[in-house]
Amino acid sequence: METFEPTIIAFVCNWCTYTAADLAGTSRQKYPKNVRLIKVMCTGMVDPKYVLKAFLQGADAVLISGCHPGDCHYINGNYKARRRTKLLHEILSRFGIDKKRLRLTWIGASDGIEFAATIRKMVEEIREAGPLQSDLKMVI
Ligand code: FES
Repeated sequence: METFEPTIIAFVCNWCTYTAADLAGTSRQKYPKNVRLIKVMCTGMVDPKYVLKAFLQGADAVLISGCHPGDCHYINGNYKARRRTKLLHEILSRFGIDKKRLRLTWIGASDGIEFAATIRKMVEEIREAGPLQSDLKMVI
């Protein structure tokens, strides 16, 4: 039997998590290829529509990751992302999408090891959860 391979869309901030992903690569940290990185200047610019669209177009999970609180290069973008993620969790739960399918993390530029570990853990959890099945497509 074939193992389910989830597709994960990751919106990563240019200044922290994208740099950490780059560091993970250059320091040869291994992580699954299930993740598609989308570089944004700040997590604060991740419009909730981007997340919904990712799910609508086949993502099994979405990761938003950026600078630690207090380290955002645009002062408070990551706080906006945190509020939006909380709201999205509520909206997504109405369509049967579990909280674990949308994750917000803070991964600093020097945390290549943490980036790889986060991706490995997320892929493992979503692989266990199985493909996304929700009513979201029927509503929009
Ligand atoms: S610049 Fe990284 S989260 Fe705002």
